[in-house]
Amino acid sequence: MTAPDNSRRRTIRSFVRRAGRLTPSQERALLELWPSLGVDFDPDRVIDFDKLFDRSAPIVLEIGFGNGDSLVQQALEHPGMNFLGIEVHEPGVGHCLLKARAAGLSNLKLIKRDAIEVLTHQIPPASLQRINIYFPDPWPKKRHHKRRMIQAGFLQLLHERTAAGGTLHIATDWANYAEHIDEVLGQSGLFRCEERREHDGSGPLDRPGTKFERRGLRKGHRIWDWRCKKSAHDS
Ligand SMILES: C[S@@+](CC[C@H](N)C(=O)[O-])C[C@H]1O[C@@H](n2cnc3c(N)ncnc32)[C@H](O)[C@@H]1O
Repeated sequence: MTAPDNSRRRTIRSFVRRAGRLTPSQERALLELWPSLGVDFDPDRVIDFDKLFDRSAPIVLEIGFGNGDSLVQQALEHPGMNFLGIEVHEPGVGHCLLKARAAGLSNLKLIKRDAIEVLTHQIPPASLQRINIYFPDPWPKKRHHKRRMIQAGFLQLLHERTAAGGTLHIATDWANYAEHIDEVLGQSGLFRCEERREHDGSGPLDRPGTKFERRGLRKGHRIWDWRCKKSAHDS
């Protein structure tokens, strides 16, 4: 009997490649700024953060930073912390590179890859002081809920990569995703919710406003924010 061929089995991803062309300046940024601000994905190399940033400082990870405006703003506001952004949308990465250069930042690096792969292979255990996930794709149709990023297995991976006392920050503008997030956070027990806020856009919890947040507000959505602390135990 021959072994089953798993090579073409598709992994469920939390994203589909969005259409959107690179502008000429984004294209140039990806060529010219990537060597200093980008980190090439390499599943065989765990990142040495002190070496990458040429200093030792707490690490803040933002997953799915979109166009990166809020990531750049936070890196500017917290010069004593090192920021790593992960995003798969190339025009967003190009936009963020341009913004980071304009701001003259030296505490920001970007990776262009699926965050699950980066966390699994390249982020050292217990290394992240803070993880930000702002307005992850909501996948509102029931048959697509399995694509949502915030799931039990993902929380387990985040927990393993978070430093002792580190925090997880999530925001969404989809009521049904907010319910789902409450449920998986509560069931996992891996992060203890320190503050949960439902608001009309006027009360973001320890973060700048974002592009997708403004988009949601224009549609009349409400906003949910969580700040959770890594629990000391494993279940
Ligand atoms: C709805 S947008 C929010 C963007 C930004 N945080 C904001 O609030 O404006 C979600 C982003 O997450 C990115 N994304 C989704 N799954 C991802 C993954 N597994 N790894 C990295 N980025 C991902 C998408 O490409 C998209 O840009």
